[in-house]
Amino acid sequence: MESLCVRVPREEGEETRQRLADEGVLNRDLRIQQEDGYLYVPVTDVPDGIGFDTERREFEERETQTDAADVLGYEPRFETVGDVALLEPEEDDEAGEALVEADNGIVTALRVESKVEGDERTRRMSHVAGEEKTTTVHREYGREFVVDLTDVYFTPRLAEERERVASQVNGGETVFDMFAGVGPFAVAAAERGAHVVASDINTRAVELLRENAERNNVSERVEAYNEDAREVAKLVAEEGGADRVYMNLPHTADEFLDAACEAARSGCVVHYYDIRHEDDLFGGAVKEIRAVAEKAGYEIEILDKVVVRSYAPYDYNVCIDFRLF
Ligand SMILES: C[S@@+](CC[C@H](N)C(=O)[O-])C[C@H]1O[C@@H](n2cnc3c(N)ncnc32)[C@H](O)[C@@H]1O
Repeated sequence: MESLCVRVPREEGEETRQRLADEGVLNRDLRIQQEDGYLYVPVTDVPDGIGFDTERREFEERETQTDAADVLGYEPRFETVGDVALLEPEEDDEAGEALVEADNGIVTALRVESKVEGDERTRRMSHVAGEEKTTTVHREYGREFVVDLTDVYFTPRLAEERERVASQVNGGETVFDMFAGVGPFAVAAAERGAHVVASDINTRAVELLRENAERNNVSERVEAYNEDAREVAKLVAEEGGADRVYMNLPHTADEFLDAACEAARSGCVVHYYDIRHEDDLFGGAVKEIRAVAEKAGYEIEILDKVVVRSYAPYDYNVCIDFRLF
């Protein structure tokens, strides 16, 4: 059927779709079209001054209320980041196509082709269905994060954990986020009124972190460095030290405990993430923390031990909150 639509370059598609949805003019009964690098987004109206090119076009109608599981006859295994479905490696193309066809806001399906790998902790992905893109805007607890799914680390599965630690932040604190990624911990802490120093070795992640700080109106409280956390720890120490340190680099955070101690001022709280076998969830990690802290002249007080999520059969992602004094 013919409809009024706005024409935007494909890379601005998701932002535009979201903006039109927020304005209440996105026509959800019709399917968005893609042609020659442009998206044609059907709308019911064009608000004054919105500044898009408009035209009239023929659109296919969407089938309403389809559910991917109904179409497939089984529940596909995937997680959603923004409007992108990340399919488990064993899922076939049919699952991706059903997810994009379904009435669920998903516009792209990618298949995860590798484990999280390398120092930058990224995953390889391949396009399965829908719009060809790897960037999306993910919303959690009222915050928005632009994420490039192949270039940076991001998981929606830590949303609750990020909220747990953010809720402990007091205004005026200096927070050092050693392994900040696109900034989900950093932005949440800055929203609570902290001054946040964030570091990451991944250049793209730091670009997006800065963009995300702006997007969430906290850029004046987020200082981001595209540098090794060890180097930034020295800067933090020179500036008077941190009241709180985030160490979200499970598997190798232990190698940075000395840098965390260097950045800390007395009384500093550290949120230390690790992957541990179910037979020894916390004991071994606490021993390592105590040994490094003592070497740096600190005693430790364990404040909390949290099982964040299951990671692999018998292995868990855990967090140890401790104070240095
Ligand atoms: C598990 S991800 C966590 C990202 C973020 N905290 C989050 O929750 O989305 C770890 C991040 O640490 C970064 N990284 C790895 N080694 C680093 C180092 N030596 N210094 C700073 N960042 C590092 C990686 O690039 C990656 O973005």
